[in-house]
Amino acid sequence: MSTVTTIKRLGEHVGQTVTLRGWLYNKSSKGKLHFLQVRDGSGIVQCVVFQKNVPAEVFEAVSHLGQESSLSVTGEVKADERAPGGYELGVSAIEIHQSVDGYPITPKEHGVDFLLSQRHLWLRSKKQSAIMRVRDRVAYALRTFFHERDFVCMDSPMFTPNACEGTSELFEVPYFERKAYLTQSGQLYAEASAMALGKVYTFGPTFRAEKSKTRRHLTEFWMLEPEMAFATLDDVCQLAEDMICYVVRDVLSNCRRELEDLERDPAKLECIVPPFPRLTYAEASEILLAHPDSEFVAGDDFGAPDETILSEMHDRPVMVTHYPKDVKAFYMKRDPADDSKVLCVDVLGPEGVGEIIGGSQREEDIEVLEGRIRHHGLPMEAFEWYLDLRRYGSVPHAGFGLGLERFVGWIAGVEHIRECIPFPRTIQRLEP
Ligand code: 4AD
Ligand code: MG
Repeated sequence: MSTVTTIKRLGEHVGQTVTLRGWLYNKSSKGKLHFLQVRDGSGIVQCVVFQKNVPAEVFEAVSHLGQESSLSVTGEVKADERAPGGYELGVSAIEIHQSVDGYPITPKEHGVDFLLSQRHLWLRSKKQSAIMRVRDRVAYALRTFFHERDFVCMDSPMFTPNACEGTSELFEVPYFERKAYLTQSGQLYAEASAMALGKVYTFGPTFRAEKSKTRRHLTEFWMLEPEMAFATLDDVCQLAEDMICYVVRDVLSNCRRELEDLERDPAKLECIVPPFPRLTYAEASEILLAHPDSEFVAGDDFGAPDETILSEMHDRPVMVTHYPKDVKAFYMKRDPADDSKVLCVDVLGPEGVGEIIGGSQREEDIEVLEGRIRHHGLPMEAFEWYLDLRRYGSVPHAGFGLGLERFVGWIAGVEHIRECIPFPRTIQRLEP
């Protein structure tokens, strides 16, 4: 019996005979030779089958194998600089688990609608697997970043009794004798957690019944939300900058191969270093009002095209702070220097990716906060527990929310965020 290994670890076995278990990605044949591109989830490797090295019936069976046939291949690992991963397998035995004919996704171009309907199979493609690996690494690096800084992971519930980010985008679900909503953000709970444990983060799925059919919107997406007691807007901006730089550097050193598969220019990531440009809403407004392509109206929230204009001006993320209170959520703290503004920040990713982070200092004064809840027409009873945080040891505190798929989309250079989550949910799509 030879050692079973994975394509990723072939480098540890040069000159040895090993067994790989996987699926046929592609195949070409030339007389007495079959070249099998085998994938096993950890990578793709070329396996060379010489007619003289395997039994005649095996050589014959291999010539009928279609894409995604499952197999185990045994052979000698050879270092080969010209091979994509640097190695090749000289095959001495093949076990066919299932010979497949008619796999629906062929190497030719397919429309994205078709591919999305085949998402359960499309994930096997080189590009999609690479995106999933980058996503996994980003999530891992995020958790490491926060743990290294003594943040505690405190997950927020998915079923909630009230809105966090505006009532128009809530998914309502029956909850025994009453109604519940799928969470839009774990923030309110993260605030309670921060008063208990100091520095926390919540990381999980969030839901928005947004009718936006853009490349930046999902109805279910993952959000990471740090929250810190005794913190200000400045602290949050610093944390966001540190976090982004940390994760980008981590992906650059651990996902080289994936970035290559994605044809992502590493130079676009290597330039992500502090400090990030910062501008106020007022400064950003001036730029947009003077821009020939912008339809921005003074005092409004920025639209996606506005964010694109701002983000394309820089090679690194831009932080826009101090928006008008009327375009932002009820919980944001008023700017003591200008009552019409709030102490908030939106981080716009470079290359036109738009907002990847939204954050703020929170209103810690109970009377002001009650006024904001009333002004937004929210049910006061539902927020009594949240108001308790301002009754018992209220302190300045702040946090932000990072959309995982938008972050991954930017890092991996993927245009549409529906490819940045294993099984995307959008207004048009609930299957597979
Ligand atoms: O700006 P948002 O709505 O902020 C919050 O929810 C705050 N409660 C976060 C906090 O302060 N703890 O959302 C935060 C981020 C956005 O910047 C964006 O990256 C992502 O979540 N996001 C979406 N991602 C995909 N699809 C959607 N429909 C998204 N809506 C927001
Ligand atoms: Mg936002």
